[in-house]
Amino acid sequence: MRVLVTGATGFIGTAVVRELIDAGHQVLGLARSDAGAKSLASAGAKVHRGDVEDLDSLRSGVAASDGVIHTAFVHDFARFKEVCEIDRRAIEALGSVLAGSDRPLIVTSGTGVAFTPGRVTTEEDAPNSPIPRVASEEAAASVAAKGVRVLVMRLPQVHDPVKQGLVTYLIAVAREKGVSAYVGDGLNRWPAVHVLDAARLYRLALEKGSEKGAGGARYNAVAEEGVPLREIAEAIGGGLKVPVVSKSAEEAGEHFGWLGMFVGADAPASSALTQQRLGWRPTGPGLIADLKAMKYFEHPD
Ligand SMILES: NC(=O)c1ccc[n+]([C@@H]2O[C@H](COP(=O)([O-])OP(=O)(O)OC[C@H]3O[C@@H](n4cnc5c(N)ncnc54)[C@H](OP(=O)(O)O)[C@@H]3O)[C@@H](O)[C@H]2O)c1
Repeated sequence: MRVLVTGATGFIGTAVVRELIDAGHQVLGLARSDAGAKSLASAGAKVHRGDVEDLDSLRSGVAASDGVIHTAFVHDFARFKEVCEIDRRAIEALGSVLAGSDRPLIVTSGTGVAFTPGRVTTEEDAPNSPIPRVASEEAAASVAAKGVRVLVMRLPQVHDPVKQGLVTYLIAVAREKGVSAYVGDGLNRWPAVHVLDAARLYRLALEKGSEKGAGGARYNAVAEEGVPLREIAEAIGGGLKVPVVSKSAEEAGEHFGWLGMFVGADAPASSALTQQRLGWRPTGPGLIADLKAMKYFEHPD
């Protein structure tokens, strides 16, 4: 299959490109810079120059492809609502070319858009969160309603020993403040997956995903249902050699900044249905193992 991958130069996109090429697919990778184009070409991908804000560039990339994996995202949390709306428009543009075809569009979301306090989120949970990122799934639903074969990939913290999703920002805060903190008793949990397991799941969804069945075509790329924040903070404290402390819910906003809205959340998620539907078996390593393997003083954030 010839697959357009947006975000092909990013953390997850790079792993997806490798996974697809290794499995015999052809990749058309979206690049917005010469450096990105060069690294994609050396990974064995064809390059499509464009930008998520240049909707014509997205549409022409889709026109040349048998399927799309969309992982690009403008990670500017200072204008989070605005960048989530950029993602909405990008998904609608990607989908506009696919209506009426059987060519799949995989949209990236997060497990956090559907969590219900006190229980484990599953693929059957509809998006219900007030966080602006829900725009990605709203756009997915809107293009699905126009006859596009859309599959939604919900990611937890995606990790290797260099990057770990929001945990990377937690490390930056701990480095800056000289303490590694959690909120309250720190027993609240975040789900996680190793980046190579996530990449394999994108490929399986592309090859075998179906929008039929309960929960539609939502996949939870979850290997660990919930890692307690306290364990995460302890691993970071050990790595940075700083004290590990608890912050109250009232102190969290001031200490963590924009991360404060996430750090105290108990948001476990299950991938039981995903594993059953796609035959996906994550093999790890786990988040804490990667945090322990991290070279904290070689990768300053
Ligand atoms: N990492 C996680 O733990 C995690 C968890 C939940 C959800 N997600 C979601 O998963 C997706 C991939 O995340 P990631 O960790 O791989 O992010 P990342 O490493 O920051 O990569 C982002 C990608 O988007 C591209 N991009 C940024 N702005 C662009 C623009 N204006 N036009 C075109 N491309 C642009 C980047 O290109 P350049 O290389 O040119 O910068 C890069 O390829 C995102 O939707 C993210 O929100 C990630």
